[in-house]
Amino acid sequence: MSRKKEIKIKPFWYSDIWLWPKLITIITTLDKNGVVNAGPYSHIMQYDVMTKNPRMLIGFRQDSHTFVNIEETGEFVVNCPSASHLDDMMETAKFYPEGINELEFTKFTQIPSKKVSPPSLEECPQIAECTVDEIIKLEKSTGIVIGKIEAIVVDKELVSMGREQRIKAMDLPIGMGDEARQTYYHTTAETLIKHDLGQPKTAMQGADAKTSMDWDNDATEMLMGVPPPLRKMVIENTEEFAVEKNENKVSGELFKELAKSVGMDPEVMERFRSGG
Ligand SMILES: Cc1cc2nc3c(=O)[nH]c(=O)nc-3n(C[C@H](O)[C@H](O)[C@H](O)COP(=O)(O)O)c2cc1C
Repeated sequence: MSRKKEIKIKPFWYSDIWLWPKLITIITTLDKNGVVNAGPYSHIMQYDVMTKNPRMLIGFRQDSHTFVNIEETGEFVVNCPSASHLDDMMETAKFYPEGINELEFTKFTQIPSKKVSPPSLEECPQIAECTVDEIIKLEKSTGIVIGKIEAIVVDKELVSMGREQRIKAMDLPIGMGDEARQTYYHTTAETLIKHDLGQPKTAMQGADAKTSMDWDNDATEMLMGVPPPLRKMVIENTEEFAVEKNENKVSGELFKELAKSVGMDPEVMERFRSGG
């Protein structure tokens, strides 16, 4: 006898029985009259992981004020609150009428954003300022916004922290869905389970990476410091960068310049090399 049973897919299936731990964000926008709007949004994911065109993809009810504002103004800010602000986050979920700034009913402080007009939230340790890249309106369904990330802004003290320390300091809540859109469940990452990835003996070896340009010895040595599964992507990006710079060869200097421009400082490169 199978222990499994197929269940009916009903509206809000993603929330009713299917459990889907989610990121909690509060999106701030401006309406066409410049009035601030805020609402929680969790149907969000990274869409393009490269630094050239970093994007996020977000799913909205098409008549939500946030979606309407994004369509009208082309700008929005994704604020990630700490668990200590869950009550205020839930306040912004209430169906306030159009033209009301939900933040006035919360303890959140509006601060100017760096690259876009809607405000950011001071109390949120992690913020992405976005403009619209593309909007897809699925018929009688979700409005999907692909946002181009114009700036990622974090609390200063987080920058120098290691990941484990940062996870604890930020204390981001994890959304665990709702019951009938009335009771919302959240949890926090109190237990951190760590795994070292490692590689099987049969993992792709350095020699498998194929370049289409000449790479000098320095550049080749640095490439070999990149974990094998990432090498193809690194080769493509580096060669694209070389073409942009009108170079027909990849030098160690060029590799370092690209690494630096995408935030791979020598310390990060060293981490790659040591496999740490
Ligand atoms: C934790 C949480 C996550 C939510 N995520 C989404 C979402 O991703 N997409 C959506 O359309 N609505 C989502 N909602 C519902 C909206 O936040 C809610 O409809 C809100 O009133 C919209 O506000 P607005 O009209 O000011 O944009 C979520 C609600 C909560 C509490």
